Amino acid sequence: MMEYKVTWKSPSNIALVKYWGKYGVQIPKNPSLSITLEEAFTRTTVALEKKRSKKVSCSLLFEGNAKPQFEEKISGYLNSIKDDFPFLQQYHLHIESGNSFPHSSGIASSASSMSALALCICTLHTMTGGKPPKDFLGNASNYARLGSGSACRSIYPEFSIWGKVAGIESSSNKMAIAHPVEYHKDFTDIQDTILIVSKKEKEVSSRAGHDLMNHHPMASIRFRNARQRLNTLLEVLKAGDWSEFIEIAEAEALELHSLMMSSSPSFLLLEPNTVAIIKAIRAFRERTKLPVGFTLDAGPNVHVLYPYFEKRKVRNFIQKELLPLCENQVAIYDHMGRGPLQELA
Ligand code: PMV
Repeated sequence: MMEYKVTWKSPSNIALVKYWGKYGVQIPKNPSLSITLEEAFTRTTVALEKKRSKKVSCSLLFEGNAKPQFEEKISGYLNSIKDDFPFLQQYHLHIESGNSFPHSSGIASSASSMSALALCICTLHTMTGGKPPKDFLGNASNYARLGSGSACRSIYPEFSIWGKVAGIESSSNKMAIAHPVEYHKDFTDIQDTILIVSKKEKEVSSRAGHDLMNHHPMASIRFRNARQRLNTLLEVLKAGDWSEFIEIAEAEALELHSLMMSSSPSFLLLEPNTVAIIKAIRAFRERTKLPVGFTLDAGPNVHVLYPYFEKRKVRNFIQKELLPLCENQVAIYDHMGRGPLQELA
């Protein structure tokens, strides 16, 4: 018999200033800033069943199917946090999870899935008699980080900042925070169309990727650049400067890939159509003077960023010129989101 059950829906996020390089227990080597998405999310339900043994145990159904590989990863994660959550040793966890986007679309799901799971664990903690933390979201963000670094940013709506930033008292390396001041209305509901250039699984695991920064010859320059760009971006968000916003987003995306290309071993994750899309976006921007730019994750897919108020014109361009460059003409029309939501049965 299930005694407790909880469901959270949690979104993915896309970093404008990237987190690339970590130390210790998931501590970032530089602060990052992201947009929380809305349409790309994971929905996770965790139900608890009382058991005798004290061993942490869970079973996972992902979109209705057993996934031993994910189950093993989650089991390792639960074991690593078991001392903070006594219920993990009293109950078996029945976990059911699914994504709003196709698993094999090349979109990383660790941010949405680990944030959804951390929110479930933190909610179950208080349901089973644990002491409620002073800051529920901050606490959930900390545990999401332990599952996957970037997941800690998915806890907040709109913009999130993770990592200590000089001048922002509440910022932290252990949890993300919501963007602390008001931003310009021109950044309301930023649009992010994710162009699926290739559905292939990631070529470099996140852990291996971050490790590349431990001995990278450009490491110190990189961490300094990220800090400077984050500070500039905070000013840009206040001022409503789309042109500077695009410059920062594109510089960060290309720097992330240049770091991968120039590391040892080297990874080249851009596909010919990634480059074709980037060139088409820049030519369109030059031609029309419309504020449209891009960012990239650690893969070949392109996130096209543009303001809500130019949605119609940019969508036209995407459909005519960019979709033909996507695998099976697939794109996900996403935008800045409201953050995670607990769903009541
Ligand atoms: O959260 P991780 O360990 O999968 O790392 C994410 C790294 C990037 O997606 C490339 C950048 C970022 O800040 O999200």
